[in-house]
Amino acid sequence: MIELHVNGRLHASESDPQAPLLWVLREDLGFTGVKFGCGVGACGACTVHLDGQAVRSCTLPAARASGHRIVTIEGLAASEGVPDGELHPLQKAWIAAQVPQCGYCQSGMLMAAAALLRRSPQPSDAEIDEAMTNLCRCGTYPRVRRAIHDAAR
Ligand code: FES
Repeated sequence: MIELHVNGRLHASESDPQAPLLWVLREDLGFTGVKFGCGVGACGACTVHLDGQAVRSCTLPAARASGHRIVTIEGLAASEGVPDGELHPLQKAWIAAQVPQCGYCQSGMLMAAAALLRRSPQPSDAEIDEAMTNLCRCGTYPRVRRAIHDAAR
């Protein structure tokens, strides 16, 4: 058994503690906003926050996340004090800029962007490009950058 603190609540899981956090979150705890892309830490679709930092959950054993504060896209807005039922400023900017195309990678993108804005509230283009290493096969990168700037205003 393993206990994980996810989106403000403690969850108990019977999963193998060495299983990747991605699968425990998705398959056992039902946080399906966390996406599987490559499984080797390359694409960022599985990005969640661990104590406020963006991490790739496909290569992180769940046991290593125990005792830390995990936030998924489902809990992003609440994690930053946004009232219940409202979207995070980045989610609003994403909609306004019509960022997603197929949308599959976008929850990971948003988690990476939120971690960036927390450490750098007004990031430059260079900072955005350096921080946003998530891959998008639709090539939404210019709109991702624009939405991050819009949310930072
Ligand atoms: Fe984790 Fe691609 S699924 S980085």
